[in-house]
Amino acid sequence: MPVRRKSRKALRILSIETSCDETSVALLETSVARGSISAVKLLHHETATQIPIHRRFGGVVPEVAARTHVAELVSLLERAGIFGKGKSKFDAIAVTKGPGLATALRVGVEAARTLSFATGKPLVGVNHLEGHLASAWLMPQNRKAWKFPILALLVSGGHTELVLMQDYCRYKVLGRTRDDASGEAFDKTAKLLGLPYPGGPELSRLAAKGKADAFKLPRPMLDDPSLDFSFSGLKTAVRVLVESKFKIHDSKFTAALPDLCASIQGAIVDVLVEKTIRAAKLSKPKCIIMVGGVSANASLQEKMAQRVKQDLRGVKLLAPPKGFYTDNAAMVAAAGLWRLRQGKVDQWKKLDAEPELDI
Ligand code: KG4
Ligand code: ZN
Repeated sequence: MPVRRKSRKALRILSIETSCDETSVALLETSVARGSISAVKLLHHETATQIPIHRRFGGVVPEVAARTHVAELVSLLERAGIFGKGKSKFDAIAVTKGPGLATALRVGVEAARTLSFATGKPLVGVNHLEGHLASAWLMPQNRKAWKFPILALLVSGGHTELVLMQDYCRYKVLGRTRDDASGEAFDKTAKLLGLPYPGGPELSRLAAKGKADAFKLPRPMLDDPSLDFSFSGLKTAVRVLVESKFKIHDSKFTAALPDLCASIQGAIVDVLVEKTIRAAKLSKPKCIIMVGGVSANASLQEKMAQRVKQDLRGVKLLAPPKGFYTDNAAMVAAAGLWRLRQGKVDQWKKLDAEPELDI
């Protein structure tokens, strides 16, 4: 008897990310069999980071970021093989439309609009935060465990949110920061300690050699019954502590630096973990995902894994693939695919950057 082959349809998405200080392009291929996604393959993915450029200024300079995206993006698209003879074909274009820096977002959005106009391919404007949520879905074993509702702790340079994912593209924000994001807390306190931009990775590297209970720092909002966060008070507490006890860069300060970093990291991580566990007890998710740049933090990963195991029986903790915590275009392609499958397509004439876009 002849073997009936499953009818598979391949779909290739070209994606662009330029919301902040990473220019990134990806080509993601998926196979759809009997209406569901059967395979996901990242055919191409390249990110050009601007960190060394902005480090000189101690933070991201929007105008410089936009100009650098302009300089990088065409080469990245060229290297994705979409131009010229024997070019890679794609079926749709996904681009980050917001939130982010207005000037930076516009570079990606205009490139995507032009490509859509020139090729006639559908265009999908992606929410950068939804992109971070989708980053965890890029991991094959996570896709097997992927069952809604999913609780997401989204921790990036600009956002700290607890999001209940009820389905693809259907989200409810359970809590968010009332002032600084956790990434900002890392970056701003690191700056106070004289560490280079971006402070998060640098502070966590030093924290690994220090003691988290060396300095007493506040755990903001832990006594508040809401699922919101607030990190601006921590920054002030660190400033007061440093100014009252040390002279920046003298030997006593240098010796105390690992303990200072570990104490700051401990305060941020404790709040993130505690509020996530509380949110999970209330919303009863099947899985928890931890996404965004700050989720690269080893101490956060370790403590969250411990608490999920201890307090939430049967709940799986899923992380993005290593290297996909910070901004990248692969996550934008994945979120674009979710939207495309729900028919959420944009018109090239109408798509615009939305710097203040919410989830
Ligand atoms: O998601 P992301 O790349 O960009 C935004 O969408 O904002 O996150 C960048 C943030 C920065 O604040 C950076 O300091 C922080 O993620 N970050 C870390 C670590 N790696 C990156 N924070 C703490 N520990 C890390 N290992
Ligand atoms: Zn991001």
